[in-house]
Amino acid sequence: MKVKEQFNKYAKHYPHRSVIQQRGAEIVVDSLPESLGTVIDLGCGSGRLFKLLQNRSLKFNRFYGVDFAESMLSLHPKGDNIELLIGDFNQASTFERLQKLNADTLLSASALQWAKDIEFTFNSAAKTAPFGAFFLFSSGTFKTIHKIAGVHSPIHSYTALESAFLKSYRALQIEQFHFELPFPSTLEMLRYIQESGVSGKLMLSYRALKRVLREYPFDYLEFETALFIGESYDFN
Ligand SMILES: C[S@@+](CC[C@H](N)C(=O)[O-])C[C@H]1O[C@@H](n2cnc3c(N)ncnc32)[C@H](O)[C@@H]1O
Repeated sequence: MKVKEQFNKYAKHYPHRSVIQQRGAEIVVDSLPESLGTVIDLGCGSGRLFKLLQNRSLKFNRFYGVDFAESMLSLHPKGDNIELLIGDFNQASTFERLQKLNADTLLSASALQWAKDIEFTFNSAAKTAPFGAFFLFSSGTFKTIHKIAGVHSPIHSYTALESAFLKSYRALQIEQFHFELPFPSTLEMLRYIQESGVSGKLMLSYRALKRVLREYPFDYLEFETALFIGESYDFN
């Protein structure tokens, strides 16, 4: 199943199964200045960042939420100062549209791990707004499951993300976070992986699945994430 179909299919489950995404969005919002000007949220989903900006009473003029899954956008809060745009952050045409908005702040939480070419996406983001704050997952997420199953993570390594970010932004804050999310069983963990939108669907053979169920040593899932905050070189 393609990434877009996956998000459309699981849109309804998504808000309830996303403890780490909630933490990630909080980490982003807690690192922001009080006044944000015009904001773009790439991969805005059901509006977690927007809701947190409001809860924390951060000031912004206008908020543009961008996502390629219409069913996620349909769950996003609506309002006079909000505009929701269908757009794919892998495509130059999306950024051409966004660059006309003269945004001040570009945010993204738990989405850019899906960027096909992360250098392109950071580079285009940096041409879109002078300030960027990003929380995203890296390939150490579900590391032990991938190792036992003998599969590669479908998302970028932390090192690749960091070096792509540093090509387009002067770093103000860079941090790696590890989380452990407890589950009652390994089967529950595998279900979570399919539905959470954190990493790709695990396409395991029957043998690999049995091996994971038999050998996984932890009662929690592992997450490896990154926070990148910086000023774009394009606006200096
Ligand atoms: C894990 S959710 C995170 C949503 C929200 N930012 C949050 O913090 O809850 C990832 C979102 O990225 C969107 N997404 C994934 N790939 C995308 C792409 N190439 N272009 C635009 N949106 C994308 C998905 O549709 C989904 O809404």
